[in-house]
Amino acid sequence: MASPSPIAVNLTVMALLITAVASATPAATSYVNHTVGGDAGWFFNSSTNTTVADYSKWAANQTFNLGDYLIFRTSSNQTVVQTYNETTYKSCSTDDALDSDTFLYDVGIDQFGQPLSIAVPLTIEGPNYYFSDADDGVQCQQGMAFQITVDHGLGLPPSLNQPPPPPYSEPPPPPDSSLSPPSTVAGGSNGGAVGADANVRLVVGMIILSVAGSFLVI
Ligand SMILES: *[C@@H]1O[C@H](CO)[C@@H](O)[C@H](O)[C@H]1NC(C)=O
Ligand SMILES: *[C@@H]1O[C@H](CO)[C@@H](O)[C@H](O)[C@H]1NC(C)=O
Ligand SMILES: *[C@@H]1O[C@H](CO)[C@@H](O)[C@H](O)[C@H]1NC(C)=O
Ligand SMILES: *[C@@H]1O[C@H](CO)[C@@H](O)[C@H](O)[C@H]1NC(C)=O
Ligand SMILES: *[C@@H]1O[C@H](CO)[C@@H](O)[C@H](O)[C@H]1NC(C)=O
Ligand SMILES: *[C@@H]1O[C@H](CO)[C@@H](O)[C@H](O)[C@H]1NC(C)=O
Repeated sequence: MASPSPIAVNLTVMALLITAVASATPAATSYVNHTVGGDAGWFFNSSTNTTVADYSKWAANQTFNLGDYLIFRTSSNQTVVQTYNETTYKSCSTDDALDSDTFLYDVGIDQFGQPLSIAVPLTIEGPNYYFSDADDGVQCQQGMAFQITVDHGLGLPPSLNQPPPPPYSEPPPPPDSSLSPPSTVAGGSNGGAVGADANVRLVVGMIILSVAGSFLVI
């Protein structure tokens, strides 16, 4: 038997690496509510100009998954801004922020010092950034800010599949319209035949791919 091709060896190494990484990360078994800052909550002390907790340290000591919530136990002296845009995060300001990637959890209270609890669902995988833009950005500059990475975990529960932020948008139509069902192909029997041809090509292509795949694995 011929010695394994470099591609097959690479695939085997990749498979081993993926298995190792998967088993090193504990699997999520349920959705978790993370109280930001732990018992201290999400507060800025304006007399000392300091945060009541180290939020970056707090965030580093947690695992975040889709469908989890961040619970901000706070007051109306702080704000909660969620953004997926690192530039906005680093600016400590929403002035130039885009509506599509930045959300102010505005609870509509215009008096200072009112107790609040704000629940923020984690609905997008990858980097998520949070800060308070109160006091013209001073709170954020003084540490009312943190970054997390959201992992897939169990995926979004049905209740969050179409969350308020971001708004749901229709997926774009498939680029190759000949692959859509015959009923949507314009123009009678000829259109149907084109669709059938495309389906045959697709199936043949898949068989070739799977034959090629098993050849590499052997
Ligand atoms: C987590 O917080 C959300 C939003 O407030 C709430 O609906 C849910 O019941 C909480 N889950 C747990 C386990 O406390
Ligand atoms: C702010 O810090 C000062 C000094 O540590 C403390 O006396 C005060 O109670 C704090 N205020 C709040 C609202 O935590
Ligand atoms: C988080 O902090 C607690 C107590 O400070 C510690 O026991 C725990 O091991 C830490 N967890 C992680 C994931 O760092
Ligand atoms: C909330 O902000 C107001 C106005 O800046 C200030 O007077 C008040 O002391 C603050 N409350 C706390 C608990 O920091
Ligand atoms: C991030 O936000 C800034 C404004 O703060 C904007 O100029 C930039 O285009 C945004 N980046 C992306 C990738 O949308
Ligand atoms: C708080 O810190 C900021 C710098 O981020 C500074 O500009 C401001 O004067 C400080 N305020 C007080 C009350 O010390």
